[in-house]
Amino acid sequence: MENTEETVTILAVETSCDETAAAVVENGREVLSNVISSQIALHTLYGGVVPEIASRKHIEKINQVMEEALTQAGKKLSDMDAIAVTCGPGLVGALLVGVSAAKAVSFASGIPLIGVHHIEGHISANYIENRDLEPPFVCLVVSGGHSHLVVVKDYGEYEILGRTRDDAAGEAFDKVARAIGLGYPGGPKIDKVSREGNPDAIAFPRAKVGDSDYDFSFSGLKSAVLNYLNSCEMKGETYCQADVAASFQKAVVDVLTEHSIHAVEACGMKKFAIAGGVASNSALREALAQACKERDIAFYHPSPILCTDNAAMIGAAGYYEFLKGVRHGYDLNAAPNLKLGQSI
Ligand code: KG4
Ligand code: ZN
Repeated sequence: MENTEETVTILAVETSCDETAAAVVENGREVLSNVISSQIALHTLYGGVVPEIASRKHIEKINQVMEEALTQAGKKLSDMDAIAVTCGPGLVGALLVGVSAAKAVSFASGIPLIGVHHIEGHISANYIENRDLEPPFVCLVVSGGHSHLVVVKDYGEYEILGRTRDDAAGEAFDKVARAIGLGYPGGPKIDKVSREGNPDAIAFPRAKVGDSDYDFSFSGLKSAVLNYLNSCEMKGETYCQADVAASFQKAVVDVLTEHSIHAVEACGMKKFAIAGGVASNSALREALAQACKERDIAFYHPSPILCTDNAAMIGAAGYYEFLKGVRHGYDLNAAPNLKLGQSI
């Protein structure tokens, strides 16, 4: 690794889905600015993210958001040691906007360019508010597009223990929310409405994936919720939205908690972190905090604003790549299906 005594300041850019985001981060853990321009209101009209609209909006916003991140940080572009950008996975058109903008700024200024894996960003969000957290630890990454249980062996070094076989956890939240009339984005709405419901009202299944201790499957649970709603309709009965939400959420939380604790114990680790949009779910945080406390496992979780897509997390991940000497050329491309651990 390179000399770490000097301050390393990174301008980070994230446009993998529907947030146009830029941040300035010092030494991977000090966030000087974290600007997020959300497109949620726009996509709500269509009940989900429309990729073409997302790309177009990123183009409109990206320069403004990058300038705002520098202004809020009280920095100039020439103060930056690197520009880190999410290059995958994500929506290809959305990723391309951030990657192209970062390449253009890097080319014009001569500041080095670093491509960052989006999931690595989510995991690294934990370093920002937990100055003492260092690998190795186990991390549960649960977002709209991904559900992974990984061992973070070192900075940028991962072993994937389990992943979803079908829907990601966030995707299941969004689909169930739509089915019970809560609309988009579903996760935060289910979280809120569940507080009024009984989590034991309906016995939804906890899926087991036969040959794996750590893989997840959420499509069966989603179908069970849809079947329940259909059967209520056929019988001419009304259903309690809050009870369905709370019972569904409990089924997801039970499976995520059970698999996570099993992984932490099997790996003989004493540190566990969560990441991704679903990591801001209050029931999940409570269940994991309790399970960790009972077993004397240190539990780390980012604030909700650092769980959902943001650029500060990309600045955190980019810093550790910078220290390793990673620099990318102007042939850096958007990689919509980039796997965790795959070289960029
Ligand atoms: O990490 P993220 O912002 O984007 C991706 O990389 O996918 O995650 C977005 C996902 C959405 O599916 C959203 O419904 C879910 O995270 N989410 C939540 C909560 N807040 C966001 N799911 C459950 N409870 C929440 N409080
Ligand atoms: Zn994400």
